[in-house]
Amino acid sequence: MNQEYLATVARGLEEVAAQELRQLGAENVTTDFTCVKFSGDQRLLYKVNLWARTIFRVLKPIEKVKCFNKRELYQNIQKIDWSNYLTPDDSLAVNCTGGNEQLNHTHFTALEVKNAIVDQQIAKYKQRSNIDTENPDILLNAHIYQNNCILSLDSSGNSLHRRGYRPAMGLAPLKESLAAALLDLAEWTPDLTFLDPLCGSGTLPIEAALKALNIAPGLYRESFGFQTWPDYDQNLWNELVTEAENSQKSELLAPIIGSDASSEVIKQANLNARNSGVRNHVKLLQKNLAEVEAPSDSGIIICNPPYGKRIGELEENIALYQLLGDIFKQRFKGWTAYILTGNKELAKKVGLRASKRIPVNNGALPCTLLKYEMY
Ligand SMILES: C[S@@+](CC[C@H](N)C(=O)[O-])C[C@H]1O[C@@H](n2cnc3c(N)ncnc32)[C@H](O)[C@@H]1O
Repeated sequence: MNQEYLATVARGLEEVAAQELRQLGAENVTTDFTCVKFSGDQRLLYKVNLWARTIFRVLKPIEKVKCFNKRELYQNIQKIDWSNYLTPDDSLAVNCTGGNEQLNHTHFTALEVKNAIVDQQIAKYKQRSNIDTENPDILLNAHIYQNNCILSLDSSGNSLHRRGYRPAMGLAPLKESLAAALLDLAEWTPDLTFLDPLCGSGTLPIEAALKALNIAPGLYRESFGFQTWPDYDQNLWNELVTEAENSQKSELLAPIIGSDASSEVIKQANLNARNSGVRNHVKLLQKNLAEVEAPSDSGIIICNPPYGKRIGELEENIALYQLLGDIFKQRFKGWTAYILTGNKELAKKVGLRASKRIPVNNGALPCTLLKYEMY
């Protein structure tokens, strides 16, 4: 039976995520601000959690109530029969997103929703669900928009961008979901050489390798939210996992390379590559940008140099952006390069004409992915 779902995504990645979900078999895919709505059956829900690289979570909307203020929210939440969704033996956590004039503090709104649910349980069973914010059986999302509250079950649990292969992080690492989305935005395909000359903890080359080797990112995770739902189908999940394991490729079609000036972060990148099982496929080298040469006649570069706002000072980074432009022009003819930056002034220092500018958020920072074609 088909059901409506909603995938949450970073700002600017709605279209990329919609495309990915369509490829996974999602139907009726439409985008909205920081989310993608789609429909599908239980198999699709599991498949999206296992395979999607660019999204945070998949929510299953279950109820919608009016919520002008705290009191109306509580009363309307209590009108729902919560025994349809959880028993007092199930632990619970409530996340809140969005807000309105009266309900403008997500933490307190989440508490109100939680209170309405457990108060109903106490009245009915004289028992209530424990609250477990780390590992709840039921993770509920309450999204407030104008005077409406949409209540959804979170099928993912922990955000899907936390693949689980990356304990080691350099300075300002990209989220794995953003790295995967940048590869899509750059139209990189596994037959093209990939290079990140400022690779830090290796997120971009590792995500490229996972894609090229057709490794489902969900295989690294220990659990998903839907696995504690009453309708959890263990056989269906096992079938999808086996299918994913059997569809992995053993070799890359083209080299995937990362380099960084810091030997410390290259150590971390190698550790992450080992944890993700792609250590023997990607080349991760300690190298200053000044020494980087093109490894083939054509390919795709994606890098995110420091922005000056987060690490290092503006002046220190000017030389780095200038060097990027010089090296692209002198040594990478035939390549397409992308720079993700949150600093317009620094971007100008590249000194090349960007053929495309794509707005993308990196966490809370509005950034631009700049495309440079080198002839
Ligand atoms: C913002 S971080 C990149 C983060 C990376 N994308 C990740 O996900 O971990 C920028 C990286 O550029 C590296 N870097 C700065 N100047 C460099 C240079 N001249 N040559 C090579 N790497 C440099 C830093 O060591 C740092 O790891």
